[in-house]
Amino acid sequence: KPVLFSGMQPSADSLHLGNFVGALSNWVPMQEDHTAIYCVVDQHAITVPFEPASLLERTRVTAAQYIAAGIDPERSILFVQSAVPAHAQLQWVLSTITGFGEASRMTQFKDKSQRYGTDTTTVGLFTYPVLMAADILLYQAASVPVGEDQRQHIELTRNLAERFNSRFGTTFVVPEPHIMKETAKVYDLQNPTAKMSKSAESDAGLLRLLDDEKVTRKKIMRAVTDADGEIRFDREAKPGVSNLLTIASVLSGSTIDDVAAQYAGGGYGDLKKGLAELVESTFAPIRERTNELLADPAELDRILARGAERANELAVSTLDQVYERVGFPKPI
Ligand code: TYM
Repeated sequence: KPVLFSGMQPSADSLHLGNFVGALSNWVPMQEDHTAIYCVVDQHAITVPFEPASLLERTRVTAAQYIAAGIDPERSILFVQSAVPAHAQLQWVLSTITGFGEASRMTQFKDKSQRYGTDTTTVGLFTYPVLMAADILLYQAASVPVGEDQRQHIELTRNLAERFNSRFGTTFVVPEPHIMKETAKVYDLQNPTAKMSKSAESDAGLLRLLDDEKVTRKKIMRAVTDADGEIRFDREAKPGVSNLLTIASVLSGSTIDDVAAQYAGGGYGDLKKGLAELVESTFAPIRERTNELLADPAELDRILARGAERANELAVSTLDQVYERVGFPKPI
C-alpha cells in the first residue's frame, strides 16, 4: 500500500472547519487504501508565541479529534511529532541543502513574520518548512493530503527530496500533494476572500469543531453574503454565498450545483439554516466522542505512545540510510 503522511498543529483548543474540510475529512477515507500516518506536529506549534501550560493539553485535544472524526489508531499510525527524535535529526540535514533564498520565498513565513515583527519572528519559524519536509520524507510518503495553503511547502519538500537523491544517491520517495480542488480552501465567514484561520483578527468568521451548537449557529446566521439575493456559485462576484455552498456541498456529499438548486428561489436565511443543521450534525458526534476520549487521558497517552513506537521504527530506518549516505556514524 502507498504511504500517506499528514499532520496538524496543536495550536488551538479546537480544530476548525477549514482543518476538517481541507484535511481531516479526506484523511478518514484514505485510510482504506494507504498506510496512513497522522501526526500532531507539536514541534511546529512552538515556532510562534505559545503557552507551555496549554501545549500538552492541546496536543491531546487535537489527537482526540483525529480519532473522534474517524482516524483508527489500530489501522493507521497516530502519534505526536516530538516523541520521535528523527524528525528534528533529519531536519538538520535537510536544512543544509535548503537555500536561504528558497526558504525566504515561503509565503507562509512572509505572512507570519510580518504579523509577528522581527523581534518575535524566530529562526524556528523560518526553518518550519524544512521540519515539515523531514516529517514527510522520513516515512517515504507518496501522498500528502492537505489544504491549498500547504502546497508551496510540499513543493519545497519535493525539491529537497530530489536534491538529496541526486547529491547523495536515491534515498527518498518524492511525495505528491493530495489537495481536493473544491474543498482546498474554506474561507472566513466574515471575510470570505481570506482563508478561515485560527489567527484571523475576529473570531466571528471561524467555526470550531468543539464549540457549542448555539455559538456556531449564530456565526453561520451572521455570515457575510451580498445584496443581490440570488443563490448561485460565483467565487469572484459572490464569495460569501459561494463559501457557504462549498461547505454545504462537502458536508452533505452533494455537488455544489445540487445544493444551489435545493435552495434556489429561497433566501440566504434558508441556506444558512440548512447549513447550520448540516454543520451541527457533522460536529455533534465528533464533539461527543472527543469529550469521551479526553475523559481518559491515560488511555489516550497509551494510544499515542504506541503510535510513536510504530512511527519511530519507520523513521529510524530512513534516518539510518540518510546518516550513512552523508557520512555520519550510525546513531545510537
Ligand atoms: P495547520 O495545522 O495550519 O492546518 C492543518 C490542515 O488544515 C488545512 N487547512 C485548511 N484547509 C482548507 N481551508 C482552510 N481555511 C484551512 N485552514 C487549514 C491545512 O492545509 C492543513 O492541511 N504545516 C502544516 C502542518 C504540517 C504538515 C506536516 C502537514 C506539519 N508537517 C507534514 C502535512 C505533512 C500546518 O500548519 O497545518
